[in-house]
Amino acid sequence: LQVCDLTGWWENDLGSKMLVDKIDSQGNFSGVYHTAVSSTQKPIEPSPLVGSQHLDKDGLCTFGFTVNWKFSDSTAVFVGQCFGEDGREEVLQTSWMLREKVDSQHNDWKATRVGRNTFKRVA
Ligand code: BTN
Repeated sequence: LQVCDLTGWWENDLGSKMLVDKIDSQGNFSGVYHTAVSSTQKPIEPSPLVGSQHLDKDGLCTFGFTVNWKFSDSTAVFVGQCFGEDGREEVLQTSWMLREKVDSQHNDWKATRVGRNTFKRVA
C-alpha cells in the first residue's frame, strides 16, 4: 500500500513546474506554481497555490488546488488524481479551469478556459 504524497516538485506537459510544500494532517497544502505559458503579455512570475488532497493509502488520491496568479488578474483551479500505485512512476492527471477578468458581464461568456495537464515528478 502506498500513500500519494503531493509534496515536492512536479512538471507538466507544457513545461510548467510546481513545488508543493508539506501536506498537513488534514491533507491541506500550499506551494508555488511556475507556469511556462501565459495568456497575457506580462512577464511570468511564480505564483502561490493552495489546495487539499485526500489521504487514502492506495496511491490513488484525488486533490484540488487554486493558483492566484501574481502577474495576471486571472485565477486557475486544478482538480486531479494521483496514479502512483505499487511503486510505479507517479503521474498526476488533472483538469483545470482558468478564469480571466473581463470588464463587464457582457464579456462573461469568453472568460473561462478549460484544459487538461499531466504532471510527473521532477527527478
Ligand atoms: C494567465 O494566463 O492569466 C496566467 C497563467 C495561466 C497558465 C495556465 S493555467 C492552466 C495551464 N497549465 C499551465 O501549466 N499553465 C496554463
